[in-house]
Amino acid sequence: MDVKGKVAIVTGASSGIGLATAKLLSSKGAKLVLVARSKDKLEQLAKELPDAIAVPADVSKVEDVKNMVKQAYDHFGRVDILINNAGRGYDAPVERTDIEIFHYIFDLDVVGPVVAMKEVIPLMRKQAEGTIINISSGTALMYLPNNGPYSGLKRALAHISLTAREELEKDNIVVSVVYPYITLTDFEKNTIKDASVQGHEETPEAQEAFKKADPPEYTAQRIVEGIESGEAEIFGHDWMKRAPAT
Ligand SMILES: NC(=O)c1ccc[n+]([C@@H]2O[C@H](COP(=O)([O-])OP(=O)(O)OC[C@H]3O[C@@H](n4cnc5c(N)ncnc54)[C@H](OP(=O)(O)O)[C@@H]3O)[C@@H](O)[C@H]2O)c1
Repeated sequence: MDVKGKVAIVTGASSGIGLATAKLLSSKGAKLVLVARSKDKLEQLAKELPDAIAVPADVSKVEDVKNMVKQAYDHFGRVDILINNAGRGYDAPVERTDIEIFHYIFDLDVVGPVVAMKEVIPLMRKQAEGTIINISSGTALMYLPNNGPYSGLKRALAHISLTAREELEKDNIVVSVVYPYITLTDFEKNTIKDASVQGHEETPEAQEAFKKADPPEYTAQRIVEGIESGEAEIFGHDWMKRAPAT
């Protein structure tokens, strides 16, 4: 899809990958619906970008997500692109997974995106066109100790996305999933960490991985390329692609 003139909802637009993606889409002529909890940051950004509105919302709450799509549609009269990007990490061994935190991360990283999809699909079907991009994670492709709750949910999001892609092809609605590599944002700072894994980011392996981390502008570029190409799976780097199943 050519993004020029298109209406794009970007969740998590107040920081990191979402912020960089919103700016890149705007520079290419898209109209933006900027979503996150940080009202002031969104309102400032909406002033800086042409044709942009701020819609403060907590994506872990079903009613907020429904209202987000309604506000987008009421303002612009259509929704062409949905980018489900808002999210948060949770590092814990499976054995120590705090179920309340797990439920919260599930609501934010999986349920919110599914609710948003449910709300935009009928609008996109009426328009006979639409693109949905769900931001998963490179960790969804790995079995990374202490990362099971988060990477498992990101894997679920990828699976749901690719299933919806099959279901919606006939309606000319393209659903894609993006697996970013480590990206230099506030993500690590905002990741909820079990006491047993605190300090793990200091390990030599982690330090090596972080040295190769991408700037958010790079990951945003991959996301926008994904919208333009309509590819099913977009990897932060080609080397992240799994070998095809035999
Ligand atoms: N950075 C990485 O290395 C990396 C790698 C793979 C995948 N990802 C994924 O990329 C996405 C973006 O992360 P990031 O790296 O840009 O992290 P970030 O800098 O922490 O940004 C997270 C964004 O999500 C928003 N958010 C968090 N909780 C929210 C809630 N309850 N309701 C609405 N918005 C909420 C935040 O805004 P407010 O705080 O204002 O609400 C912020 O805009 C996430 O889904 C993450 O899982 C990141």
